Amino acid sequence: MKRLGVNIDHVATLRNARGEKHPDPISAALYVVKCGADSVTIHLREDRRHINDKDAKRICNLKNVLVNLEVSMNESIISNALRIRPDYICIVPENRKEITTEGGLNIIKNFKKLKKIIFKFKKAKIRTSLFINPSLNDIKLCRSLGVDCVEIHTGKLSNNVKLKQKHTKELQRIKNSSKLANSLAIEVHAGHGLDYKTTKILTKIKEIQEYNIGHFIIGESVFYGLSKVIKNFKRLLK
Ligand code: PXP
Repeated sequence: MKRLGVNIDHVATLRNARGEKHPDPISAALYVVKCGADSVTIHLREDRRHINDKDAKRICNLKNVLVNLEVSMNESIISNALRIRPDYICIVPENRKEITTEGGLNIIKNFKKLKKIIFKFKKAKIRTSLFINPSLNDIKLCRSLGVDCVEIHTGKLSNNVKLKQKHTKELQRIKNSSKLANSLAIEVHAGHGLDYKTTKILTKIKEIQEYNIGHFIIGESVFYGLSKVIKNFKRLLK
């Protein structure tokens, strides 16, 4: 059974739209786990556009909820993350103007910086992952960085599938990267833009152990409810 991480940032987006307390991301974290999610993902963005520091702290303090905290390489965010102590960390690129994380990290450019950050998280015994593009070279660099996991950005594949464009080349890139990572003892995750169809396509790649999905799950739940949608994904990942 592959693992499902549910990204609940959009629950906070909805709450923030009113500037009040409902819907509460802490209740959402507890509820998605009750519905079968293996972990909860939250992204503490530099502009705090959805999850804020207080949410992150409270969610990371919940018992029996494994939390994957996405962070940029920003120094103050890293210090916050080390204080909050999530179970897992995923380092992602962040650009203030983007609507969502548009691609993987530039590993070559940030190699030294990443090495220092990864060292801090590993010293704190936090499982550390890097959000990367499906590239064999990046996987080799990740090996030198000593990360525990990589999360492969699946945005391009998802767009190809949604726009009914050819996706075989991108799927092959993801497959080759996953196989290489697995052979180097790096755990492979996938995330970004995933829905039922794209997740089903990716399940053919046996090396992918964890899927982190947000926007589609929260959006689809407006019609069918979190419980049903999470159960549908869990069935796909069997
Ligand atoms: N994984 C990572 C590392 C992300 O940055 C995001 C988006 O915040 C996701 C997964 C979830 O993407 P989506 O909301 O498109 O499912």
